[in-house]
Amino acid sequence: MAPVVVLGAGGRTGAECVSVLEQRGTPVRAVVRDPAKYRDTLGNRKGVEVVAGDVGDMQSLREVVRGASSVIYAASGSSYWAAKAVDRDGVANVAEAAKEAGGKHVVLVSSCLVSPHNRWNPIRLLLNSARWGLMDAKYEGEERLRRSGVPYTVVRPGGLVNEPAGQAQLVVAQGDNQSGRVSRADVAAVCVAALTDPAAKNVTLELVSKPAEAPAPLAQQLKGLFAGLKPDAPAA
Ligand SMILES: NC(=O)c1ccc[n+]([C@@H]2O[C@H](COP(=O)([O-])OP(=O)(O)OC[C@H]3O[C@@H](n4cnc5c(N)ncnc54)[C@H](OP(=O)(O)O)[C@@H]3O)[C@@H](O)[C@H]2O)c1
Repeated sequence: MAPVVVLGAGGRTGAECVSVLEQRGTPVRAVVRDPAKYRDTLGNRKGVEVVAGDVGDMQSLREVVRGASSVIYAASGSSYWAAKAVDRDGVANVAEAAKEAGGKHVVLVSSCLVSPHNRWNPIRLLLNSARWGLMDAKYEGEERLRRSGVPYTVVRPGGLVNEPAGQAQLVVAQGDNQSGRVSRADVAAVCVAALTDPAAKNVTLELVSKPAEAPAPLAQQLKGLFAGLKPDAPAA
């Protein structure tokens, strides 16, 4: 079976994606900038190949995407000035590499509130200045992916928390008027489900969760999650 590429696999959501894929028995190509840093956390996992790659380096992207089935992009700039390079240009680079490799499906972890109509939202303003231009860069990265011609899914989570998957009721929406919280583990489960669900193709969705005393089992929630969502209008 061809591996799924996870970019930003050492990050908190990326590592959750690796775990979901590992549990499903799907081979993973876990891409990190410095494999030595993740030898103990990712290196010993079954079916997980840890490889070096940087979303700013086209040659490394061509290599990691070669022979893969699809791609999950969970990387984000780690320094104050890195948003344009990682959250915008990095996404465009990955879309290009996925296109060159025959049009691999790219699932992008973005964020609620990135859309320009939210520009005066105080949370967006805060996030945009905590990392310079982060939300603008994320939106432009989304746009470049949508225009790239590769099949994609853009998952825009609300505020991320570190809780186990399946503890809450997932809520999906479109139009970027949603806010709330969701666990990284749930986001990862949705990203992996998007890789194989035809209803997730060329779709942009917001993802939050609401507390529930007895949420439906996660597998059941994932089954109908993308049904009824509208694919994005084709890029002009
Ligand atoms: N925090 C929130 O509440 C929130 C809310 C909504 C959306 N989001 C978005 O959700 C996504 C996942 O967030 P997270 O907090 O789980 O991520 P995270 O833990 O910050 O991980 C991000 C990863 O990106 C990698 N990275 C940075 N620059 C890179 C480059 N040039 N090439 C390759 N990889 C690179 C880093 O890898 P290294 O290990 O190589 O340093 C890091 O492991 C992000 O896009 C974030 O903006 C976050």
